[in-house]
Formats: sequence, structure tokens, C-alpha cells
Amino acid sequence: MLLLALAGWVGKAWWDSRLPSSYSAMQFGSTDFGGGPAHDHGDHGGVSVDQLTGPRAGKPDYRITLVARKAEVELAPGRTIEAWTFNGQVPGPEIRVHQGDLVEATLVNEDIDDGVTIHWHGVDVPNAEDGVAGVTQDAVMPGERYTYRFRAEQRGTFWYHSHQVSSRQVRRGLYGAFVIEPRHQPRRRALDLTVIAHDFSGGTALGSHVGQQRRLVAPGTPVRLRLVNSNSFGERFHLVGTPFRVAAIDGTDLNGPTPIEYKTLLLGAGARYDVTFVMPQYSVGLFLEGTTTALQLISDPDDPQLHVEEAEGGEFDPSGYGRPKATPFGATTHFDRSFLLKIGKKVGFINGRPRYHWAVNGKLFPETPMYMVSRGDLVKFKIVNDTGSVHPMHLHGHHVLVLSRNGKPTTGSPWWVDTLNVLGDEEYEVAFRADNPGIWMDHCHNLQHASDGLTMHVAYEGVTTPFRLGAGPDNHPE
Ligand code: C2O
Ligand code: CU
Repeated sequence: MLLLALAGWVGKAWWDSRLPSSYSAMQFGSTDFGGGPAHDHGDHGGVSVDQLTGPRAGKPDYRITLVARKAEVELAPGRTIEAWTFNGQVPGPEIRVHQGDLVEATLVNEDIDDGVTIHWHGVDVPNAEDGVAGVTQDAVMPGERYTYRFRAEQRGTFWYHSHQVSSRQVRRGLYGAFVIEPRHQPRRRALDLTVIAHDFSGGTALGSHVGQQRRLVAPGTPVRLRLVNSNSFGERFHLVGTPFRVAAIDGTDLNGPTPIEYKTLLLGAGARYDVTFVMPQYSVGLFLEGTTTALQLISDPDDPQLHVEEAEGGEFDPSGYGRPKATPFGATTHFDRSFLLKIGKKVGFINGRPRYHWAVNGKLFPETPMYMVSRGDLVKFKIVNDTGSVHPMHLHGHHVLVLSRNGKPTTGSPWWVDTLNVLGDEEYEVAFRADNPGIWMDHCHNLQHASDGLTMHVAYEGVTTPFRLGAGPDNHPE
């Protein structure tokens, strides 16, 4: 009898967990108002995400066409892989614009069967330009095209990637760098180089190369290396041969960064660090831990090949680096809404699949929270990692200020992130101003974790979406 009841309960849990073939991001989730006023979303005078566009009129300052297609790519002599690419290359073309530019990017899907979108990771674009299949647009199927238009209002290092079946598509190569330079840049002879770390089946690449790369740089040249981690796992960068500063994190300049040396830089999945230094008389090496891939900046063509070296001064800690500076809110601010995001594990079914799944606040996808905010709110999140795994948490459309880690307030430069690398059993408090209406994904950037259910949303009151997730419309953002 008991067994029968148990079987009945399991059967029902299985049945209930199956996702319909088409569903709205709005219909699911356990709605959480974070102690703020609770209105039903979309019940009166709502706005649809497809109205929340960038400027539709006006001549773009920068225009690019990104063609998604399969291509053979050579990562090192004799090391060729079948990649999914933008314009036949991995990473895709680097987009470099100036702050304030109107950007127009047209995505053309040539032959990626799942469909493709482009998400501008860390660029706080209007919601309709955010590139999430099934939430802000439909996936762009083979033979179709889609145009994104937005003003590049921030400045710094960002990246772009497909947000359709992203756990597979990003890994296969559908990503690239997106750099926004200051409007007026002093005309100096400087080296400004983007370096994306990515694991391919053929090895770990820096940029488009696996193995050692050399580049001649005159001593005295100001250098900025824009480090990007496009993997689902953390990467440790070792920069040896010179003191350097961490000038920016996730596209936000740090205040008063001091020179450091021999420190390892751990970049969580999706993170960016800009490091700066003046080219010394000797060679400088950038190594990726656990690989033989490296970038060597040499001051003299006769410089010997560097051998892999590890910086032994421990790990760089952003929570106490640089000088404090006034922030628009902080630990003592009254927040309009305070949310808990507690990551755990739980036995259950997701879409009929039984497993020990990721859970948020005790609930499995798609019952993971729908965090409701109103425009203008000051919002605080407490992120608790109740698992031993690393979860690089990424909120779309906003940058969050890190207030504390493991109960200790941050003490250095204001530390703003869009992707926070939460290590096993860590706890963070972060805060942001709800100033970009829409429905925004908030998920783990270990994209396999996201596709295994570590996905939720922050939604503004009154915003609705006409797009649908699921097999019917073929929209699978994770
Ligand atoms: Cu870089 Cu939702 O992603
Ligand atoms: Cu995760």
C-alpha cells in the first residue's frame, strides 16, 4: 500500500515536471516580491518586451553583419576543428566601438540548425536587444536574419555569444569580444589587446591559437590586456615578468588600482579583467594554468621562448583591492526589495528527468524564483551557495555592486560585476538599481548548470513577453 502510494507520488511528480511544448517565462517560477509591493505582473497597462528596443531610427555609427555558420578552423598547425562560428572564425570578429556609438549588428544564420541569437554579455542594452531566445526574441533559424540596434553607453570589455542552446553553441565557438573605448582617447602608441580563453576539443586557446604566441612590443609601450573567459569553468591567468594593475573588472574601471606582482587572476566563467602595465625591457608572459597555451610579449626578437611559469604570490582578491569611493548605495542603504538566492541540490524531476538537480530556494526549474521589481527600486540580493560547486552567477541587463563576501564588507574600490564567481559554500550580498525595465535572465554561467535548471529571472512589474519557450517555438536559451 505504502509502495503503491510512493509509486503514485513519484509518478505524479514525474508527470507534473514535464514542460509543455510551449510556455511563457511569465507563467512559471515562484513569484517573489522581496518584501516590496506585490502587484500582478502584466495585469494593467503592461509593456511588451518587444517595445523595449534601442533606437530604431538614426544612422548607426558602427555596423556589422555576423553570419553564423559551420567552418573548419585551424587552432595550431595541423590542429583543425569543426567549429560553429561567426563569419568563419573563432572567436567571432572583435567588435570595437566608442562610447555613445549607435551600434547596428545584423545576425544571419546560414546553417546552424538549432537557430541562433546574440546576447551582448555585460552590455546593459534595452531588453528587446538582449538576445535571449524565447524571452526577448525567437531564435533565428537557418536562412533567417535579425537586427540588433543599441547605443553603447558603458565603456570597457564585454563579449557576445549565442543565447540559444548556449551550453552547446558557446562551447562550439559562437562568441566574440565586444570592446567599448572611451569617446576621446589620447592618441598614444599603446597596445590594446583582447585575449579570450576558450577550451576547444583541440585544446585551450588564447584568442584563435592553441600553443605559444609571440608578439614584439617596444619597451615603454603602455599595454592593456583585456582578459575574457568564455568557458563554463574558471580559468587562472598568470601574468609574469612585470608588475601590473587590474584596471577594470566586467567592464567597470576600478578606483585607484595599485601595482601587484606574482598574483594569479582567477576569472570565473563569463568574467573580464583588464590588466595594464608599461612594457619592460624584458619579456612578459601570460600563461593559462594547466595548459601550454601562452602569449609572450617580447621586447627583442631574439628573446628566448619563455617556459611555462606560474605566479606564486597567491590569488588576486578583488574584495579589498584599490581605493574606496562613494557609491550610489551601500551596506546601510534602505533597499526596496531584498531577495534570497540560495543554491542547493534536490532530488526530483526536471522535464521528466529524474536526478539530483540544482535547486534555488528549495525549488526546481521551472519553479525557480521569478524575482519581481519595480522601476527605480533599490534591490539587494543575498546569494548563498549551499553546494560545493562553483556557480558564476550572471544577471542580464544590470551591473551589481558587491557589498560583502562571506559576511565581510568589501573594502577596496567599488567592485561592480555582471558575473560573480561564487565558489563552493560562499555567500555574497550584492545590490543594484532597477533602472532597465524588462524580463532579464539571472543564471549560472556554467552553461551546463543553467541548462540543468540553474536559471531564473528578474522581471519588472508590468512587463510581459509575447515570446514562448519550449519545443514548439524551438526556443531553448540554455
Ligand atoms: Cu553570457 Cu545569459 O549569458
Ligand atoms: Cu553553476
